[in-house]
Order: sequence, then structure tokens, then C-alpha cells
Amino acid sequence: MCGIVGYIGNKSAVPILIDGLKRLEYRGYDSAGLAILENGSIMIEKTKGKVQELQELVEESSFSGTAGIAHTRWATHGEPNRKNAHPHLDCNSDIAIVHNGIIENYVALKKYLEDKGHVFKSDTDTEVIAHLIEDDYNGSLFETLAISLAKVEGTYGLAVISKKEPDKIFAARKGSPLIIGKGKKANYIASDVAAILRYTNEIIYLEDGEVAELTCEDISVKSEDNIHVRKKIQQISWSLAMIEKDGFEHFMLKEIHEQKTSLLNTLRGRLNYEEGTARLDGLIKYIEYLKKAQRIILTACGTSWHSALIGEYLIEELAGIPVEVEYASEFRYRSPIINQDDIVFVISQSGETADTLGALHETKRKGGIVLGICNVVGSTIARENNAGVYIHAGPEIGVASTKAFTSQVLVLTMIALMLGRMRNLPLERGREVVKALREIPDLVGEVLKKDEEIKKIADLLAGHNNALYLGRGYNFPVALEGALKLKEISYVHAEGYPAAEMKHGPIALIDTKMPVIVIATKDAIYEKIMSNIAEIKARQGIIVSIITRGDTKIKELSDNYFEVPSTPNFISPIINTIPLQLLAYYVAVKRGCHVDQPRNLAKSVTVE
Ligand code: AGP
Ligand code: GLU
Repeated sequence: MCGIVGYIGNKSAVPILIDGLKRLEYRGYDSAGLAILENGSIMIEKTKGKVQELQELVEESSFSGTAGIAHTRWATHGEPNRKNAHPHLDCNSDIAIVHNGIIENYVALKKYLEDKGHVFKSDTDTEVIAHLIEDDYNGSLFETLAISLAKVEGTYGLAVISKKEPDKIFAARKGSPLIIGKGKKANYIASDVAAILRYTNEIIYLEDGEVAELTCEDISVKSEDNIHVRKKIQQISWSLAMIEKDGFEHFMLKEIHEQKTSLLNTLRGRLNYEEGTARLDGLIKYIEYLKKAQRIILTACGTSWHSALIGEYLIEELAGIPVEVEYASEFRYRSPIINQDDIVFVISQSGETADTLGALHETKRKGGIVLGICNVVGSTIARENNAGVYIHAGPEIGVASTKAFTSQVLVLTMIALMLGRMRNLPLERGREVVKALREIPDLVGEVLKKDEEIKKIADLLAGHNNALYLGRGYNFPVALEGALKLKEISYVHAEGYPAAEMKHGPIALIDTKMPVIVIATKDAIYEKIMSNIAEIKARQGIIVSIITRGDTKIKELSDNYFEVPSTPNFISPIINTIPLQLLAYYVAVKRGCHVDQPRNLAKSVTVE
């Protein structure tokens, strides 16, 4: 979720807003815009595309106002285009807002407001806030904000201006970071310090539920229960380079550690405990087709193909529907059989992968239904599928996919649950699944806290040029994903196998120089993987095991181990992938590799 900048002072706002947006570009975005209070009116410029294009637009407009707000958008609801770019206005263009986050109840709010005569101009969730404020306005925007935002469910970092109160700018925060910068005869709003560090290092961090009113001189903050609060001013000593990665050395490490938040955003507003199911609005139009589907085909490339393999286990276990997983590059050229009651899902973080787009076209050419699971809103695959689900993982900058993978698996789990509850999955079982899904973000947070343990293991493995990854059942695709992560960022030759396959050849590779990473958390076939580990031990392989907390049996057989919390089997792929992401990252750093832009790789493979 992207970037916000606000300014009120005695200088022209435009250069400060544009400079601030440029310092937020690293976060990934698809459109940009700004609003300036100018001679009693609100002047807007916005565009799909880059901040540079916005800058050229505003240079032509020569706005001179000294108060304004600006935004870089990472679309979640509504195509990336000029109409949906922020700022958004109320009916009379008295109020302008920019927003980071997701308004979960925007459909209901939009209907409520349209029934009252409000006219909407965009497809975004955000715009409902502008009309809510208009509808509730009582002469004080500071008071009105608290009233309107009490009706909003979801997350927001928000900046607001009004031509009715031209000597103020306003901010509000709930679930999406927002800060205030205290300047000299000026004050600032930003979604992160990078945007305003050039102007001030005196920062106030807004807490959830807080609303702020800024003038040139003063900053007032009220809590959720409308009480004025005295906020501590913090002196920031970070360098700008550090801040862009929130203090992490690489985007990949930042994105690995974002997974508690990104998984929360993937789940947001989509679980229904009462009915023991998931609600995926993007698929509603195709519910009847999903109800009668006799086969599901999942097709993708790379890491997304690994999530598809996990999806196969999930959908067959929870919904009892046969699933076929296909490499998109193979599917598109082998003239696949697509029956009338088949449903094809294409899975792609970028939504631009040429082979996956090819598989989508092949499905449509054969008259099949193709549904998408994407991260980038408005991407080609997202626009060309019949319908789809956005994973809401936020921008993924690192070439090696991490948070998008776990969010893809989470969406596939919700799809499997929804399909199952349309068939024979009992209510109680559905509720168990919903309960387990709700616990994932906290469990991931627990694992991430043990980052240092993995770093130590990585230091031991970094000198090896080969590695084997083994897993069974749900964790066989996790073994493949762990191997790909290591391969693509540290250039170590790593292969993943179903653990039982060792006997059929790969065991010939085992010797004292071969690290074998075994995903061996407790499940129905735990005893079997014990035997596989014993076979490796007998040949002096170096055993690194991912085990369920408290498991002593495998610990004794392992040279190194990493404990994860006990979870239901169908949740284990998300939890067990986290240490493997960290392992690959720290090995690559130890080997001096360029983690965020590994050699020969692109973030989105838009060529065949
Ligand atoms: C993942 O770490 C790799 N960068 C790569 O395999 C990637 O998953 C693949 O190119 C598919 O990308 P997509 O999800 O954007 O379609
Ligand atoms: N949900 C809003 C939209 O899609 C805000 C997205 C963002 O955080 O940039 O416009």
C-alpha cells in the first residue's frame, strides 16, 4: 500500500510534494496525483504512470498554493488509471483525500451514500471516505473526520484538505503507517520518513485511531475517543538509504518480514466463521461454474507454480475435486484438453508473465473459463481473465518472490475452503479451517522473530555449492520452493524432491559434503520421513531439519534444526516456507550475491 505526502507552510507546496513522492517511488506504485489549496479552490492533477509524468503536468499548471496533499497509488480496488488515481473528491470538490489501505465495507458505504444522492466518479474503495466526510461535515473537519472514520472498516493512512478550512491539513491513521513531520513555520504528513527527511527529522508517529490537524505553526492530535493527546516528537537519525528499506539491508529481507502484515491483508474481510467458509468477491460471478466444476487446472510459472502444487493438495483435500497442475509454458503449447466443466486458474504475482498469459489465451481459445490469482491490480492477466482474486500482498520489489508466494498459498486455501463448503465439507470442519487461517499471521510473526537462528545455520551452509531439499505431502512443493529460493539468489545448485524419491537415484549424491534440508514437521507421514532422514544419516549427509517445536526424535538425527510452531497440516506450507526464505537470503548475503537483483533474472518474465 503506497505513498502519502502532505505539506502546509509558507512555501509553494508542489515542489515539496513531488520531491516527497519521488522518495517513495521505491515502494512500487502504478499512478500518482496531488491536490493543492489555491485561491479558495482545490486544484487537482493526477495520472496513471510515474511521478515524473505528474511533475510535468503540474509544471504546466503552475500551482502556487502553500498547502496540499499527494499520493502514489498501489491499486487494490479499481484499475490503475487516471480516474482511479488519488486524490479523490466529494460531490462539490470541497474536500480532497488521499488514502493508503483497504476499506473493507466500501460496497455497503457506497450504496448508502449513493442512495443519499452522492455521485461517485471512480471505482475505488477510497472515494467513499470523501463522500462520507461531505455527508457528515459539521463545520469542523477535525471533528467530522472522527465521526466519518468511525463508520469505516478496514485500514487507512489518510491525508485530507478542504477549501472550507484552507489554513489546515488533516491526517488519520488506522492500520496503515502515517507520520507527522514538525518543521519551521511548516508541518508535514507522510506515509514514511523517507518522504520528508530532507525537510525535518522531528517526527511524530500517529497511532491507530488517531486524527491530526496541522497548521503552519501547530499540530493537534486526538485519539479514537476524541481526547486531545500530547505526542512525543522523535529525532530521526537514519540515513535515507536505510529508510527506503525500513532499516532492512535488502527489499527481499523487508518483504520476508512483512509477511505477518501481508498475510493479514490477504485475509482481510474474506473469512466467515459463522458459515465456516471464505468470501472471495472477485469470484462471485462464477460461483455457479465453480459449484459444478468437475476438474480444476492450476497453471503458472516458477514460484507461482509451486503455490499451484500446494493448491492441488488443498483443493483435493478440502473440496474433493480433481486438480491438475501444469507449467504454463507447457500447457500453452500442448493443445491441452479442456472439458466443459473444467475451470482453469492462472497464478501470477506480476500478472505479466508471458507464458502464464499464453496459458490464459489458450484456455480462452478453447472456450474454457480462466480465473486469475494475481498481486498487481490491473495487470494484463488480471484484466484478461474472466474473473479473479487479488492476493493484496502489496508491492513485491525483490526479484525472488517471498510474501507473494505465501499470500498465493493463502488465497488457494480460501478457494479450497469455499469450494469444499459448496460441496461436502461439514460446517464444523469449515470453522476449524477458518480458525486456523486466522492464526497464520501471528504464527508467521513467531517464526520471523527467530531470524537469527536461521542466520547461524546459513553461515554453516554458505560454503557448500550443492544442496538437496526434501519434503512429503504438502511440504513437497515447499521443498521445491526452498530449493528455488537458494538457487536463484545464491547460485548454489539446489534441488527439491519428494523425500521418498531419494531411494530412486538422488541418494547417490549423499556424502559428507552434501547438505540436505528436510521439512519434517509432524503430520500423518511423519514416521516415513524419519526413515528418509535415517537413510541420509547412514551416508553421512549434512542434515538440516525443519521440525515441529518439541520434536526430539528428528532433532537427535540432525546436524542443525529449526523449530516451527505446531499447525494443522494444510497450514504448514506457509509456516515452513518462512525459514527456507530466510535460509536462502542469508546464504546469498554470506556469498556476497546481489540479493534483490540476482544475475540473469527479471522480476517479471514478459518474454517467452
Ligand atoms: C520467483 O522467486 C521467481 N522470481 C520466478 O520463478 C517467478 O515466480 C516466476 O517468474 C513467475 O512470476 P509471476 O508470479 O509474476 O508470474
Ligand atoms: N485501496 C486504495 C485504492 O485501491 C488505496 C490503495 C493504496 O494503498 O495505494 O485506490
